[in-house]
Order: sequence, then C-alpha cells, then structure tokens
Amino acid sequence: MADSSKKKGLLGGLLALPNDDPKKTLFIAVMLCLVCSILVSTAAVSLKPIQTSNKKTDIKRNILAVTGQSNKAGSVDELFEQFDVRLVDLSQGSYANTDIDPVSYDQRKASADPQMSVNIKDKQDIAGIGSRAKMAPVYLLTEGDTIKQVVLPVHGYGLWSTLYGFLSLEGDFNTIKGLRFYEHAETPGLGGEVDNPKWRAQWEGKKVFDENGDVEIRVIRGHVGKDSPEAEYKVDGLSGATLTSNGVTNLLQYWLGEQGFGPYLKNMRSELGK
Ligand SMILES: Cc1cc2nc3c(=O)[nH]c(=O)nc-3n(C[C@H](O)[C@H](O)[C@H](O)COP(=O)(O)O)c2cc1C
Repeated sequence: MADSSKKKGLLGGLLALPNDDPKKTLFIAVMLCLVCSILVSTAAVSLKPIQTSNKKTDIKRNILAVTGQSNKAGSVDELFEQFDVRLVDLSQGSYANTDIDPVSYDQRKASADPQMSVNIKDKQDIAGIGSRAKMAPVYLLTEGDTIKQVVLPVHGYGLWSTLYGFLSLEGDFNTIKGLRFYEHAETPGLGGEVDNPKWRAQWEGKKVFDENGDVEIRVIRGHVGKDSPEAEYKVDGLSGATLTSNGVTNLLQYWLGEQGFGPYLKNMRSELGK
C-alpha cells in the first residue's frame, strides 16, 4: 500500500485520500484559491487597456453631454474632434507654454506629482483636494474664431467622496451651459442626486460672476423661487444632502476663483471687453 502511494507521488497521494480527510479538503481549497487568483489577475491585466480606453471615451461622452453636443450624429470620437483642447497655466491665467500633448495630459496624475502640482494651504482648500496640478486642460468649442463654449474640469470633496466633473461656460465666460459629474461615490438618492437630470437642468443659464467679478454661483439650502433675489446665481439644494450640496458650491467656488480658472476666465472676459 505504502509502495503504491509513493508511486502516485504527492499529488496522487492527496487525491487518493477519502473526501472527508482534512488534508485533502485543505489541499483542494488551496488549489481552488490559486486557480481563481490566476484567473482574476489574468482578467485584470488583460482588461486594463479596454478599461482605460472606456474611461477616456466616457470622459469625452461627458464633455459632449455638458455642452449639449451628444444628440448630434456621429461617434463620440468624431464629435469630440470639434473641440480644441488646450492646457492652461492656472496661476498665469494663460495657455501654457509646454510640449505636453493636451489630449493625453493627465491632470489627476499631475496633481499627485510634486513637480507638476502645488500644495493648497488649508485655509484656501475649500474644495478639500490637498493639491492641484499647475496646468489644467480646457476644451474649447469654437465656430470660426469665436469661442462658443469652454469646458472646465472641476473636482472637490462632497460627503463621502471626491466628485469629478465638467462645467461648461458659454462664450461670455460667465453663463453656465451645464454642470455634470462623471465620477463620485455619494449616496444614491441623497448626494447621488447630483446626477438627477432635473437637478442638472437647473444649471443652464445661471451666472458665475457678479458685476465685480466675484464668484457668486452656489447651491442654496431649499428651493430657488422665481422671485428669489439673485436667483441667477443660485441652484436648488439637494434634499437630505446639504453636505454634498455644499461640496458642489465649494468646488465651484474654488475652481472658478483665484486659485483655479479665475485668472484665465478674467483674461478671456477682458479680451471680449467685459
Ligand atoms: C447612510 C447615509 C448616507 C448619507 N449620504 C449622504 C450624501 O451622500 N450626501 C449628503 O449630503 N448627505 C448624506 N447623508 C446625510 C448627512 O449625514 C446629513 O444629515 C445631511 O447632509 C444633512 O442635510 P439636510 O440638512 O439637507 O438633511 C447621509 C446620511 C446617511 C445616514
């Protein structure tokens, strides 16, 4: 008997054990884990390029949606070609003098790179992001020499997560065309209502800056009545989700303010003579 199990080898010996033998149970469990982990890691590695490409397409789709271009005929890539992508040097408020390709520039990666980002002092960090990239892309929708819309990437902390999205402004660099988040982990039905089309629709036509150039746009608590004073700068709060609503206000105030796109937008408005 001992001779025959030696002949079978260790594997054969383990498999020949009765099914209720603890050694066999342990062996089968370990083998199962090994096979599953090989399958999962193979899938993760081989699907990575598809995931990256899908993410890029999703970002383009969101830019098309926030500018009202998604209903037009054509593929996402074809429609996205209408946009002129430029990199803005945020502190200068002008287009960056760099060899970096604006289309492949990764603002998120840059904001984690000490060479390419600046730390935000606690007091100024109203969006709760810690650091920001020195350069940010802008997506220009033009008609001839005229800029019809400019899309600005924005992000900031809500209650549970950082919300990433796009704000599109009309060619006056003040009137909002749309605001849309493409990534967040706020609670569905509460903070997750930032994705509710009815709530999103309220942003169109709202103004960002008052006559002094101060950022006035904000999400209020409750409902903005037709006759509410300064209704053009206000959007309804998300009910039961004041913390996410405040997060949206804060991230807009940050990205439209002096530390964000404020200097760029000011320069663009002054070019228009406003
Ligand atoms: C499970 C759970 C999930 C919540 N998710 C959110 C959320 O995503 N965003 C948010 O602002 N508040 C959320 N809240 C509610 C907040 O804790 C807080 O009560 C609320 O923001 C206050 O807003 P209100 O004054 O409009 O009720 C959640 C609460 C619970 C219990």
